[in-house]
Amino acid sequence: MTLSFETDVKPLFREGDRRAMRSFFDLWSHDDVSEHADAILGRLQRKDMPCDRAWPQEQVDLFRRWIESGKPN
Ligand code: HEM
Repeated sequence: MTLSFETDVKPLFREGDRRAMRSFFDLWSHDDVSEHADAILGRLQRKDMPCDRAWPQEQVDLFRRWIESGKPN
């Protein structure tokens, strides 16, 4: 199954996440998330982002698979 940013990745980012991170990058933008993908994955894996609760492992894995499959839109 091919993962897409719009269908599979963007819905993982809550409105509050987007608001909190807007001064750094836009979590609802394919270009921004692609550009900062490694830094985002690092923080998700270290469980220090999002600041209020860590993602379940299957969501972190899905984000990593999206990166590995070339960050499709
Ligand atoms: C899935 C959601 C989130 C992701 C992927 C994420 C990712 C990141 C990343 C990659 C950075 C480093 C930015 C840089 O230095 O270029 C960062 C910094 C930061 N984030 Fe988030 N963030 C998320 C949600 C949140 C939330 C919900 C809050 C708080 C309400 C938050 C607060 C901060 C703060 C204060 C920093 C700057 C201090 C630091 O580097 O720890 N983030 N985040």
